[in-house]
Amino acid sequence: MIIAIDGPAGAGKTTIAKLLAKRLGILYLDTGATYRVLTLKALKDNIPLDDPFALRYTAINLNVRWEEGKIYLDGEEVTDRIRSPQIDKIISLPVSFKEVREAMVEFQRRLVGTKDAVVEGRDTTTVVFPNADYKFYLDASLSERARRRYCDMVNKNIQVELEEIKQDMEVRDRADLTRDIGPLKKAPDAIFIDTTNLTIEEVIERILSYIKR
Ligand code: DC
Repeated sequence: MIIAIDGPAGAGKTTIAKLLAKRLGILYLDTGATYRVLTLKALKDNIPLDDPFALRYTAINLNVRWEEGKIYLDGEEVTDRIRSPQIDKIISLPVSFKEVREAMVEFQRRLVGTKDAVVEGRDTTTVVFPNADYKFYLDASLSERARRRYCDMVNKNIQVELEEIKQDMEVRDRADLTRDIGPLKKAPDAIFIDTTNLTIEEVIERILSYIKR
């Protein structure tokens, strides 16, 4: 069984998908994290972020391990580093290339294999697992999404401005919505959930109610 969860940054995908996978006792895959690891690797190795072929080569040869919720790149733990504002600012470019996305989609499918999983990230319901058993599209207002991302960062002791996060998010949304390859869009058969005024538990209950049906 594959449950795919799509939607823009800050809509609650990561939190919800992680808890849902735990509740159901199945694998959790955060596809955004795979793109973030690739971006960090490119940064570390001085790979030009505008070179799709060098990035694809890097994607194919990524040395990543997922272990008990922690992410290791070349043996080093990078779980928090991949979520830094520095990565947020530059990630739109590498994720926009067809060559990169094709390699990453292969990588993501390989990570899931034949297991039951909750797979989360924009384009998971449309490109990565278009035949998923359940598809959900989570969204929330821009202000609420920015507030959530801000709280995440503050909780990790990362110094940020709410207004800056909101602006970055708006820029990233636009890039994600308008790109030709793997754009952020709701699959026609995905169930839409506006999480602006819902608690995490309420969103999970709503998703589980569809699955139980
Ligand atoms: O969900 P996130 O903020 O961790 O995603 C990081 C970036 O990767 C974001 O700009 C969207 C992009 N992304 C993507 O293009 N395709 C996915 N399946 C997941 C994330």
